[in-house]
Amino acid sequence: MKAPVRVAVTGAAGQIGYALLFRIASGEMLGKDQPVILQLLDLPQAQAAVKGVMMELEDCAFPLLAGMVASDDPNVAFKDADYAILVGARPRSKGMERKDLLEANGAIFTVQGKALNDHASRNVKVLVVGNPANTNAYIAMKSAPDLPAKNFTAMLRLDHNRALSQLAAKTGKAVADIENMAVWGNHSPTMYADYRFATIGGESVKQMINDDVWNSDVFLPTVGKRGAAIIEARGLSSAASAANAAIDHIHDWALGTNGKWVTMGIPSDGSYGIPEGVMFGFPVTCANGEYTIVQGLEIDEFSRGRINVTLNELEEERAGVAHLLG
Ligand code: NAD
Ligand code: LMR
Repeated sequence: MKAPVRVAVTGAAGQIGYALLFRIASGEMLGKDQPVILQLLDLPQAQAAVKGVMMELEDCAFPLLAGMVASDDPNVAFKDADYAILVGARPRSKGMERKDLLEANGAIFTVQGKALNDHASRNVKVLVVGNPANTNAYIAMKSAPDLPAKNFTAMLRLDHNRALSQLAAKTGKAVADIENMAVWGNHSPTMYADYRFATIGGESVKQMINDDVWNSDVFLPTVGKRGAAIIEARGLSSAASAANAAIDHIHDWALGTNGKWVTMGIPSDGSYGIPEGVMFGFPVTCANGEYTIVQGLEIDEFSRGRINVTLNELEEERAGVAHLLG
């Protein structure tokens, strides 16, 4: 058996936390041979609920659960963390856009970025789920100057998975057979879900569908506005599918994708003309605990237009939080 790793999860008493923690403890995220110590952060008023979740985790008798810590102090919860999944934030309600959460949630990520900087493992892998996820991840990264910027990521995997399911339904093929899907940009309705390179059994998905109007009028709005559609239907924002995407994101980052493309929000290295440091969704492959941007993809005029829209939105969000970063 491997030595345990420390997984910090914020917002542990929330809906995503409830859908996430049991799967981490059962080994679905880091493998069935990897013991984990859960370090759970939530607000002071949520500590009783966190205790309840810990009681249920105990009652599962997970063989891989090597310990648990609960705290309302990020300096405690992030101590020596190998992984940090930052979920804790206010979700939006009907009628709000994710960027409406900037003020409410942005401040959380300066404090937590600093706590990671001061207390986490130097190799900590950070995933920001709390919205607006890209900009919160950017704030955390900028608040942690002693940690490698590349260790900070934002969740676009839910958008990637949503796109795969829509394509499977349209083509009548299995999700598992779709390769080379990409989602560019912000986790917001401006994201650009791009299936131009996608294949099923070696055949082009774009040619199979052969309908640009479906792409622009049905597929892109369906994927882009799926979060709002779920809030409308459920009265609450997505939780189980968000937790599932977080598991997928960390699993693939830590254990590799075997050449398969996945989407991660990562600080740009300048690829595809995205200014360095912008927290942007890119198609990546993962191996040996590192992600690599898929290079050499042709960006046609339609795609460049879409990428510019989502980039502009991220630049605006970044300007909107500049005051938090001093
Ligand atoms: P929730 O309200 O059920 O739970 C949030 C939890 O975070 C609560 O327990 C709350 O007490 C806690 N919290 C608030 N501020 C905190 C802080 N400063 N430190 C630690 N904990 C804190 O919300 P939820 O449905 O679990 O959603 C959480 C976040 O995830 C929201 O911002 C939501 O918009 C976002 N989200 C993102 C994606 C994505 O794809 N990136 C998908 C779904 C939801
Ligand atoms: C989602 O995409 O489901 C989440 O980001 C929640 C939201 O506010 O849309």
